[in-house]
Amino acid sequence: MSGAAVLAGLGTFVPPRVVTNDELSLTLDTSDEWIRTRTGITQRHWADPGTATGDLAVEAGRRALAAAGTDTVDLVVLATTTPDHPCPATAPEVAARLGLPHVAAFDLAAVCSGFVYALATAAGAIAAGTATRVLVIGAETYSSILDPEDRTTSVIFGDGAGAVVLRAGEPDEPGALLAHDLGSDGSLKDLIIVPGGGSRQPPAGAEKPGPRPADSYFQMQGRPVFRHAVTRMAASSQAVLDRAGWSADSVGRFVGHQANVRILHAVADQLGMARDRVVVNLDRVGNTSAASIPLALAHAVTEGLVAPGDQVLLSAFGGGVTWGSTALVWPDVPVH
Ligand code: UT7
Repeated sequence: MSGAAVLAGLGTFVPPRVVTNDELSLTLDTSDEWIRTRTGITQRHWADPGTATGDLAVEAGRRALAAAGTDTVDLVVLATTTPDHPCPATAPEVAARLGLPHVAAFDLAAVCSGFVYALATAAGAIAAGTATRVLVIGAETYSSILDPEDRTTSVIFGDGAGAVVLRAGEPDEPGALLAHDLGSDGSLKDLIIVPGGGSRQPPAGAEKPGPRPADSYFQMQGRPVFRHAVTRMAASSQAVLDRAGWSADSVGRFVGHQANVRILHAVADQLGMARDRVVVNLDRVGNTSAASIPLALAHAVTEGLVAPGDQVLLSAFGGGVTWGSTALVWPDVPVH
C-alpha cells in the first residue's frame, strides 16, 4: 500500500427548505434580477431553526460512507465556518452519531477554502500513515450567521453539506489526489469576518460588555473579495496544473468554489480554459462555503458533466483570506 489518498465515495445533503430570490425580495431591498445578474444565484436552501451544521454533516457523512461501501474510518475532518458550538469541535459528535466512536475527529476552519484544505490535510494523514481511511466533510448553516437586514450577504449564502471518503491507495489509480496547493493572506482578514464571539470580542459576560449584536453576523466586502478570489484561484489552479503536469486544455471540468458565476468564468479566462468546462450549481444552492465544492462535484457527476476518467480541477477562495486547489482523475465511484 502506498501513501496516495484516493477518493472512494461522495455524499451530499441540503436541507429541504428552498428560499428563492423572490422570497428574499419581500423583506430586503433587492430583486431576482439583481441577484441573478450579479451572482448567478436563483435560489438557496436554508435549514429550519433547530437544525445545525452537525445535523447536515451527519447526513452527508452517512451518504459518503454508503457510497464508499464502508462503515469505518480512522479520522473525520469537518470543514466548517458555522460549527454547532464555539467549543467543542463539531466533528467528534458527528463521528459518534455516524457510529464511528473513538476515531480522531476535528474541525478545520478555512471558510470557503475549507473543503480543499481538508482534502490536503486528510491526504497528509494518509501519506504519514496515521490514517488509512478518512471521512472529509464540508458542512455549513450560514443562515445562522447572516444578518437578515444585510442585502449584501443574505442573498448570497446557502446551507448544505458534502462529504467524501478518502482511502490509502496508489498514485496512478483514478481518484488519487495528484497535487495540492494551499495559501493564505491574513493581512486581508477583515474582508470576510464575524467580528464578535471570539477571544478578541468575547460574548457578553457579567463584568465586560459584549460585542454589538451586528458583530455576531457575517460581514463581507464583496468587491475586493471578488478581485482577490479571481487572482488567487487562477494562480493556485495554475500551480496545481503545473504540479500535476496538466495543461489547462486537458482539464475536463473545473469545479471551483461556487461564490459567483462571474468569478468562475474570470478564473477560466485567466487559465485559458474554455468557459464550458466550468461546473455551475450555485444557481440552485447559492454559496455554501465549505460545502460548495462537494455539492458542485455531486451535481456534475449526477448531471453527467463529469465521467470516470475525466481530469478534474478543484479550486477555492475564502475568508482568512485563504485559497487552495486540488487535481484528480475522476474515479468510477457512486454518488449518494
Ligand atoms: O465565498 C467566499 C468568497 N466570496 C466571494 O467570492 C464573493 C465575491 N464578491 C461577489 O461575488 C460580488 O462582489 C457580490 C455579488 C457580493 C456583489 O456584487 P458586485 O457586482 O461586486 O456589487 P457591489 O458590491 O459593487 O454593489 C453594486 C451595487 C451597490 O449599489 P451602488 O453603490 O452602486 O448604488 C450595492 O449597494 O449594488 C448594490 N447592492 C445590491 N442591490 C440589490 C448590493 N447588494 C445588493 C442586493 N440587491 N442584494
